[in-house]
Amino acid sequence: MASKLECIDCKRLVMLRKENTVKFPTYHNNPVVAHGLRKTGLLILGLAPGLHGANATGLPFNGDYAGKFLNQCLEEKGFRLSEGGSSTSIGYCITNVVKCFPPSNRPLQSEINNCIKYLKKEILFVQPKIVLCLGVVAHDGLMKVLKGKNFIKFRHGNLFKVGQLLIVDSYHPSKLNILTGRLSREMFSTILTRIRKEFEKGIRSE
Ligand code: URA
Repeated sequence: MASKLECIDCKRLVMLRKENTVKFPTYHNNPVVAHGLRKTGLLILGLAPGLHGANATGLPFNGDYAGKFLNQCLEEKGFRLSEGGSSTSIGYCITNVVKCFPPSNRPLQSEINNCIKYLKKEILFVQPKIVLCLGVVAHDGLMKVLKGKNFIKFRHGNLFKVGQLLIVDSYHPSKLNILTGRLSREMFSTILTRIRKEFEKGIRSE
């Protein structure tokens, strides 16, 4: 479902894209947009492209440590990014709040604000029933899209509804969180099992 996004709203990030085009000429070095299936019910929301991951490959959570961890856990629990697979597998779409690689993986609030319009469009297009927010930036970004309705603070394991949308929070599967044990494979698998149960309770995956 990905299409190319041309954006020059954030001076700092545009400059960095240009610098990285020289440093890493084979990399994507452009905004990274949503990838995967729409109307399947699940949207996974991350922070921003990693330098040598999504910024290199052009696909969210692809090509780096976080992506490897995330994709292995999702596959193990029967989630899929493309058509096909077993009849019990659940399709999903994946994206980030911020579409360009930010220095030290830390976008400025102004950069998050500039990028929210793209997330809004992606949510309208994907039509998720559940959004899995990976970390506080993803959670707060989604709250912004939902205009702060029923504002709830990020907490790992949160599961709550805003209107018809079910929101699930997890710590971000960053290398740091995993290596320090803040997020273990078991903890993340528990989150995925809870999402699966929600689908089994009646949110259908096509
Ligand atoms: N890769 C992404 O695409 N997003 C993140 O939040 C981390 C790594």
